[in-house]
Amino acid sequence: MDPIQPSQAFSPEARAAVYRAIFERRDMRHFAGGQVEPETLRRLLTAAHHAPSVGFMQPWRFIRIQDRAMRERLHGLVERERIETARALGQREDEFMQLKVEGLLDAAELLAVCLADGREQHVFGRRTLPQMDLASASCAIQNLWLAARAEGLGMGWVSLFDPVELAALLGLPPGAEPIALLCLGPVHEFYAEPMLQQQKWARRQPLNELVFDEGWGCVSALFEPSASSGIAALEALVPNGQGQIA
Ligand SMILES: Cc1cc2nc3c(=O)[nH]c(=O)nc-3n(C[C@H](O)[C@H](O)[C@H](O)COP(=O)(O)O)c2cc1C
Repeated sequence: MDPIQPSQAFSPEARAAVYRAIFERRDMRHFAGGQVEPETLRRLLTAAHHAPSVGFMQPWRFIRIQDRAMRERLHGLVERERIETARALGQREDEFMQLKVEGLLDAAELLAVCLADGREQHVFGRRTLPQMDLASASCAIQNLWLAARAEGLGMGWVSLFDPVELAALLGLPPGAEPIALLCLGPVHEFYAEPMLQQQKWARRQPLNELVFDEGWGCVSALFEPSASSGIAALEALVPNGQGQIA
């Protein structure tokens, strides 16, 4: 990493810990049961609540689901959508059906994340881009995800569901929308790389194909081979070399 640091930078150890959480966070579908201590869960939700949000609207709402019968209903909802998704995929249907896409019945905790009702009242930041409320709630989920990784807990974001049916099951008011079922809890181990990459469904794209200078499609000088010494240092933090950065 760059030896000349801004005066407000964290210590090298603290910076390494931040990047470690980022690189070792995984979307988890296999869980080891167990439990999450209430104190830990409070910390994680507090981390989520400290996410940025457009106009500081804080559109996130969390529903903790502990009732087994409800969990099973939600699992049924996801299973139905999994089959619909497979059908919609056509050629890759069989390959998709081999993938594990949720751990709803095994995770210690299940949280539904919803967008609050009344979002239309928030004009600041949403006038031309109303989906910035979803972007804000996604930031909260990412905070939770990273904090969970640091706590040694796995998390999986499940979005394969019919939102209208899920809203009805959870008693959401008109205008509120579910965006995630989060499976959270102890895991035996974290996948060394995205499970969809392990299973050869998709690969991380080279970053130098995604960063442009000045306009769309103009390859960035930042990621030319001659300029990549800082990237090599960062890559050293990525477990098992899974994340070729450039
Ligand atoms: C908005 C969003 C929705 C997702 N929904 C699902 C899902 O329904 N089922 C699933 O298995 N993974 C889901 N994922 C996880 C992605 O598959 C995963 O993030 C991606 O494969 C990269 O793996 P990684 O998170 O371990 O880096 C979702 C991720 C995001 C950001």
